[in-house]
Amino acid sequence: MTAAEWVPGTTDLERLREAARSCRGCDLYADATQTVFGDGPARAKVLMIGEQPGDREDLAGEPFVGPAGRLLDRALVEAGIDRDEVYVTNAVKHFKFAREGRGKQRIHKKPSRTEVVACRPWLVAELAAVRPGLAIVLGATAAQSLLGPSFKVTQHRGEILDAPSEFDGHPEHVLATVHPSSVLRAPDRTAAYRDLVADLEAAAPLLT
Ligand code: URA
Ligand code: SF4
Repeated sequence: MTAAEWVPGTTDLERLREAARSCRGCDLYADATQTVFGDGPARAKVLMIGEQPGDREDLAGEPFVGPAGRLLDRALVEAGIDRDEVYVTNAVKHFKFAREGRGKQRIHKKPSRTEVVACRPWLVAELAAVRPGLAIVLGATAAQSLLGPSFKVTQHRGEILDAPSEFDGHPEHVLATVHPSSVLRAPDRTAAYRDLVADLEAAAPLLT
């Protein structure tokens, strides 16, 4: 299964967003509250890609509004990047979770490669609509959606890479770093946060 048949042939972001509401390109729509499409300026120079919406994003319908989003906001400020000028989205547009424990809390589950591939047409459509110069991929899921399953964030974090020719210059460059949630889980959170900010700072020369 894939989202392709739900993705309209348009570069109009609002039309894409509207169409994504009824996507049935994989099974994840069934249990989630809503599609969480990307958000930000339609002509942003930077497009940032996370993994998938979390619990808070699923309820709000907007990307990166929960704890990981707050950490990301702080890191962007420190790296000199204005979040209001960034188009923020996810590799997978529905929240994947399992209900666990006595409270039946919704616990995040990592999307499968099949789900990431199924949802990729939305990401490709967002890139074609926004036409950013730089894509920042946060963590392995986003990096591998964009660059292929063998890409290793740990080997290339903080580097300005050439984007695959598939994207026709939009983006021209890709910067990979860790996912902000991994900073929240890191044993040494201060060091992990500092490294995230340092990676994001590599984008600065491309933003002037
Ligand atoms: N984590 C993500 O990858 N994306 C979000 O939107 C929120 C948390
Ligand atoms: Fe469609 Fe992506 Fe949601 Fe799957 S996760 S239903 S492909 S929008």
